[in-house]
Amino acid sequence: MSRRYSVAVAGATGAVGAEFLQLLTERSGFPLGELRLLASARSAGKTIEFKGESLPVRELTPDSFAGVDIAFFSAGGGRSREFAGDAVRAGAVVIDNSSAYRMDPAVPLVVPEVNGEDAVRHTGILANPNCSTILLLMALAPLHRLSPVRRVVVSTYQAASGAGASAMRELEEQSRAYLAGEPVVKEVFPHQVAFNLFSHNTAVDETGYNEEERKLVYETRKILHLPDLAVTATCIRVPILRAHSESVNIEFATERPTVEAARQALAAFPGVRVTDDRAANQFPMPSEASGKDDVFVGRIREDGSHPRALELFLSGDQIRKGAALNGFQIAEYLIAHDAVKGAMRP
Ligand code: HSE
Repeated sequence: MSRRYSVAVAGATGAVGAEFLQLLTERSGFPLGELRLLASARSAGKTIEFKGESLPVRELTPDSFAGVDIAFFSAGGGRSREFAGDAVRAGAVVIDNSSAYRMDPAVPLVVPEVNGEDAVRHTGILANPNCSTILLLMALAPLHRLSPVRRVVVSTYQAASGAGASAMRELEEQSRAYLAGEPVVKEVFPHQVAFNLFSHNTAVDETGYNEEERKLVYETRKILHLPDLAVTATCIRVPILRAHSESVNIEFATERPTVEAARQALAAFPGVRVTDDRAANQFPMPSEASGKDDVFVGRIREDGSHPRALELFLSGDQIRKGAALNGFQIAEYLIAHDAVKGAMRP
């Protein structure tokens, strides 16, 4: 019988953990052995339905990982820092969806379609990039392969899901209250999210950039192995449930690809769907991207203000390709390349 892999999901009751379980259900070819659901003490004792079975949620502890091959962490950076080492010592490979290890030089930061080859060099932990970075890279990488990119200017329109399941509920509840003329209650976000938008809810440092914008800059450079790539970002939270959108201006170093060449390169890239119908004014929309695996890319056009720049717009499901699906694909990549154990592991 072919090899099966025992999988633990730390953060199984969160939005991303739930999507990871959904992917395990959908992708029936995944060679799943035991499935262990882990969460905080608060959620321990609950059960989650998986393929017709009621699986118990257990408390995440240092002893949770005996016999686990692949541990997917999406329980926040604090939990990753506290327990990822235990998982690695127990022999598991950790695929971490938090920001805890992303910029650690020893930890591969991977979008499988873009830099899958980095994954096989792991020493126990791999990091899933920030959602807005993953979506940006899906459009940037095929164009960078066509002609080297020198500078990227990105503005994001980020859904509530990026702040978790409770933020999605807050958007729904605020929308209901607003339309009923009732007071809007703010618990998760610092500002009203329904019928409003605001600068991303992460700390702004002395440079004036917030943490989400800094992630886009540094993670993009790491994934593309371009430490000097010029990237600037403005990240905005919008009243959308689960798909992020981004407006992207890309300056090429020497030669701007034609719009047609860019469109073809994007259409040929796995995981990208080009939606670019000028006559019908049909372009990427979060309502269409929600629940889909593909990142939708369109509005592909020459930047009329710069001879070497292109403009585009994209939408992608934040919980799927922006988080759970990308992590799942990292696991699939490791299995396909016989690298779950990690050849470089001490
Ligand atoms: N940092 C993102 C957001 C979530 O706040 O939308 C990325 O997983």
